[in-house]
Amino acid sequence: MKAVLIQSEERFESFRSKLEEYNVEYVVLDFEDQAWIDFDYSGFDFLIFYSSFEFSSHHPLALYRVYDNLMHIHGLSPELLIYPDPALICYYNDKYRQHLFLRSRGFPIPRTVPLLSAGAVDLAHKELGYPMVVKNRYGAGGGAVFLVRSRAELKSYYKLSRLDFMHPGAARYLFNILKKRMFYYNLIRERRMTYPFLSPPLLAQEYITTDRDLKTVVGDGRVIEGHWRLQASRDQWKVNIDGGGIGQWSFIPEDAVELSERLARELGAGWINLDLMPSERGFLISEFSPVWHHYAFREKPTFVYKDDYNIDPPLAVSLDLERVIVESLMKRRTEAGRTTSRGAV
Ligand SMILES: Nc1ncnc2c1ncn2[C@@H]1O[C@H](COP(=O)(O)OP(=O)(O)O)[C@@H](O)[C@H]1O
Ligand SMILES: [Mg+2]
Repeated sequence: MKAVLIQSEERFESFRSKLEEYNVEYVVLDFEDQAWIDFDYSGFDFLIFYSSFEFSSHHPLALYRVYDNLMHIHGLSPELLIYPDPALICYYNDKYRQHLFLRSRGFPIPRTVPLLSAGAVDLAHKELGYPMVVKNRYGAGGGAVFLVRSRAELKSYYKLSRLDFMHPGAARYLFNILKKRMFYYNLIRERRMTYPFLSPPLLAQEYITTDRDLKTVVGDGRVIEGHWRLQASRDQWKVNIDGGGIGQWSFIPEDAVELSERLARELGAGWINLDLMPSERGFLISEFSPVWHHYAFREKPTFVYKDDYNIDPPLAVSLDLERVIVESLMKRRTEAGRTTSRGAV
């Protein structure tokens, strides 16, 4: 087996040790150098790039290395297996594209109105009620997801997404950015200002009342890991771990497993991570991603592991991201090799 490992800010060393552990020959390339552009990828079995966001997750170009560089390599060498899965890259960190896909395929999702025009703002106001959730098209960790309590606020977010800053809501929005300590840390220490703009179209969404959501990982067709994220306190409406949410590994209902596997199938995805919200209408898909970060087994003392957890394999395996990805790529490559040689006979 021969692999390309792209230099990355996170998990680079852990992927490198995993390749060494599995005796995979590998070449390291760096998207900051020129060599990857003229590199000959033929003869390689798979490529791994553990991407992270640049600038901030809601910057439209936060993933340009994935969108541009990886898709370019995929175009040149379609047979090269890639993590993150090229079948998902156009949806990666883009809630609008995910919405279009999920809605057109009839997947259960929260009622959503993309704010495509001033008319759509009126529609969202009439149909969704308050509180309402407004999401920036790009963003992770809950940083660009807002709770909206009035028509004026809704309109104001819409105007911001159109780069119209001539209204009182704009001053409030900017003030909220300026009052965060992270803004000054980034500005002074990192020499990088927080990206202040929103990207159209925003998504207006019905507010789902729940104190938890569910994350699942589907690999090679089946759910291999799942956990709940519980609200840490009443005043925290988002359950993101980064925002203080508590991870809990306990019973994962069958309908959540089926829904996750159906989405992976319809997207033709090798590996996918889903966020699901429980509701009166069953599980609703909130978002999905080809790249995820979960804490290792028992890494965080506040996390809860219960006996009724019902997903195979054991957590010590499924929470070892490097292991599941490298094993899966090697297995798929071996299977593809067999098919090709049979075809040649
Ligand atoms: N429609 C909704 N109703 C209630 N809470 C929501 C809704 N959408 C998102 N949330 C909460 O906000 C968090 C962040 O939203 P999400 O769409 O997952 O964005 P991000 O990409 O930033 O994680 C979710 O984990 C969930 O707790
Ligand atoms: Mg999320």
